[in-house]
Amino acid sequence: MIRSEYFKKNVSRETIMKLSKFHNILIDNNKKMSLISKNSEKIAVERHYVDCAQMIKYFDKSDKLILDIGSGAGLPGIILDIIKSDYNLNFSTHLIDKSPKKAKFLHNVNSLLNLDIKIHNCDLRQINDRSFTTLVSRAFKPMKEFFEIILDTDIKFKKIILMKGEKFMNELKIAKKYFEINCESFKSLTNPKSKLFVIKSVSKI
Ligand SMILES: C[S@@+](CC[C@H](N)C(=O)[O-])C[C@H]1O[C@@H](n2cnc3c(N)ncnc32)[C@H](O)[C@@H]1O
Repeated sequence: MIRSEYFKKNVSRETIMKLSKFHNILIDNNKKMSLISKNSEKIAVERHYVDCAQMIKYFDKSDKLILDIGSGAGLPGIILDIIKSDYNLNFSTHLIDKSPKKAKFLHNVNSLLNLDIKIHNCDLRQINDRSFTTLVSRAFKPMKEFFEIILDTDIKFKKIILMKGEKFMNELKIAKKYFEINCESFKSLTNPKSKLFVIKSVSKI
């Protein structure tokens, strides 16, 4: 079982068991493909799962259909889907990743954990479903590139929740030259140098 004060405090034992199963599958598959950095395997609970789980604080009942863009190992989409019932949330989760290997891993996790997630294995620009309540993303692209793809792809959304690392200030400064961004930012629980951005709208200047 994974050990985490954060999860112990916030979710049920069954959820912790599901997270542990996810962790085992991830670590096992990380031997043959690059899902998370090898250096972060031993600290994956805090570095990856708690980091992703903290996003749930910015969800409410209006978040019904979420898309995790550039999901990779299912971060944050799978974590959010596993913990949602502990927060009385009931959204449907879609994940998109263009890598066939990662999509195969995500399909395996979906079936082994008995989740009901929809996985899109294509470039974001080619996705068929283009209407979501909520976009989430972590470690995908710098903000400017992210907004360019979202707007070019014409994906409809009401909210974007972005997890940004230490370079967030610079990224935001660059993005603001090209886009009008209506957003709030919040401290990360896991890294004082990171931020979570909750974006209500973004348009080209
Ligand atoms: C750095 S990984 C981040 C993975 C995960 N979100 C995390 O936090 O660990 C970025 C992922 O985005 C995917 N990706 C990059 N460009 C993409 C695109 N245009 N459409 C869909 N997926 C893309 C890559 O295949 C990769 O798995």
